[in-house]
Amino acid sequence: MSQPKLISWYNNELQQKLGEIPVPTLMLIEGSNDTGKSVFAQQLTYGALRSGLKVSYITTENMVKSLISQMLSLSFDVRQYFLKGELKIFPLHVENIDWREEIANLFLEVISSYLNNRCAASVVIIDSLTYMITYANEEGVLTFFSSLRNICDKQRKTVILTVHPYAFSQELLIRVRSICDGHLILEIKTVGDKIVRMLFASKLRGVIGGSGSVIVAFEVDPAFGIKVIPYSQARA
Ligand SMILES: Nc1ncnc2c1ncn2[C@@H]1O[C@H](COP(=O)(O)OP(=O)(O)O)[C@@H](O)[C@H]1O
Ligand SMILES: [Mg+2]
Repeated sequence: MSQPKLISWYNNELQQKLGEIPVPTLMLIEGSNDTGKSVFAQQLTYGALRSGLKVSYITTENMVKSLISQMLSLSFDVRQYFLKGELKIFPLHVENIDWREEIANLFLEVISSYLNNRCAASVVIIDSLTYMITYANEEGVLTFFSSLRNICDKQRKTVILTVHPYAFSQELLIRVRSICDGHLILEIKTVGDKIVRMLFASKLRGVIGGSGSVIVAFEVDPAFGIKVIPYSQARA
């Protein structure tokens, strides 16, 4: 058997704490506003490109140009990859849509059909799914995640999704988590007068070097992207 493809984090501390992300993996990144979901998605995008993998990045938050400059502001220079076609960016405009259940379900179907039939990249990022998940019905959401599961396994893709945790009902969230094999929860904690960003990696099945649950405190630093800080410092 050939060696599995691996996504490096291109960040020593994260690499050490979380291990490389194999292809295939279905990974959910959960967090409220401003917790760092997009920064993590971009760190993984950069890591995947540097690892020689092609990436399709579906964004509801940026235009093509603004995503490239946002990544550059974190020291992730993806311009060459974009020009060579190794990074494809698909902006989805979701803000001015009159969201209804049928429209949200349709969006989910279109995304999974694109990934199933047209997408050549082995790494797919969707940042974020919050609108679609909030408005789609439970059946639509579960069908979407089952088809992603199939696409990851059969077509050997790693799909990384970001979502606001309140988009799901508690029960649906538990079912969706069980379909995924990687699961990162991002939170902002206030410690004294300091704000600290935390990552809880509660599920990393199949992730090399990762075991059980991992807790990481981090800052967002333009020179690094994600900068891991000592947990004791985070608690101090
Ligand atoms: N280039 C940057 N330099 C410094 N801080 C940044 C940069 N890009 C994003 N951040 C900060 O990182 C934090 C997390 O942002 P983001 O990943 O967009 O959150 P989310 O996607 O969860 O809403 C924000 O406080 C944001 O201001
Ligand atoms: Mg975001």
